[in-house]
Amino acid sequence: MRLPHRVLSSLDKKQVAYSFSRAARDYDRVAELQPVVAKHLLSKIQLGSNVGADDFCCDLGVGTGYAIPQLLKLLEPAQVLALDLAEGMLHICRQRHAEQGVHFLCADAETLPLANSSQSLIFSSLAIQWCPHPERLLQEIARVLKPGACAYLATLGPASLYELRDAWAELDDQPHVNRFLSAQDWLDCLPDSLRSCELEVQEQVLYYPDLPALMRSLKDLGANPVAGRQAAGLGGRARLQALAEIYEGYRQTQGLPLTYQTYYWVLKKSVK
Ligand SMILES: C[S@@+](CC[C@H](N)C(=O)[O-])C[C@H]1O[C@@H](n2cnc3c(N)ncnc32)[C@H](O)[C@@H]1O
Repeated sequence: MRLPHRVLSSLDKKQVAYSFSRAARDYDRVAELQPVVAKHLLSKIQLGSNVGADDFCCDLGVGTGYAIPQLLKLLEPAQVLALDLAEGMLHICRQRHAEQGVHFLCADAETLPLANSSQSLIFSSLAIQWCPHPERLLQEIARVLKPGACAYLATLGPASLYELRDAWAELDDQPHVNRFLSAQDWLDCLPDSLRSCELEVQEQVLYYPDLPALMRSLKDLGANPVAGRQAAGLGGRARLQALAEIYEGYRQTQGLPLTYQTYYWVLKKSVK
């Protein structure tokens, strides 16, 4: 069976880590959507039982650590494990968050170097769309969560970046923009021990003055690696000019739109 997420499996993790490491220093300045999404995801956190000083909450794909202060406050006196694939992101995160009770770990969310049932909560905002093997990721989340604990995940849905994907599709059939899993794709990967408790879908549209500014924003965020791109490349100046002309067809009064469809997902691990 060829599941849609097989398309993602060619995503090169070294390239992902490199792009985010390179973007880390300026990430907070250019990240427009990310703080909004993290804030909304944080608002969903409910704690069924009290947490103690020995409890851990893992922020998977922590980036520069935008959510760390709020996680520490919400979960006090629990400790926060700031985990990211990109050394460069963790470096900035470590500089910004010297608070007590924060630990840093450079690791891959699909192969977590964490003990079974060791985490009282998992938080992950706009990171898991970079994981090419969603079944593996969800199995790892299920394995490391304590029984009865929850994972709060925000990720991008398939309508995200559709204007850019559709504009490229008028030029060629190569992959230029990542594809994102649908809610059903994610549900199909859910292990038996995880139950989906809530799924909220939102759409946000960002606007740019022109195509170079739009493309630069993706690059500055580190969000430019594309599964299978080695074969496609971006093309020369003439192709980018052709793309810009096509994209003009989407222009609105605020500028050139780029849509982000965000899934806010709450999963709970069974108690047995
Ligand atoms: C768009 S940033 C989001 C960062 C932060 N959560 C925020 O909301 O600002 C995505 C982050 O996920 C990390 N990431 C990507 N793939 C990962 C993986 N397989 N395991 C752990 N982190 C990963 C990247 O290095 C990057 O820091």
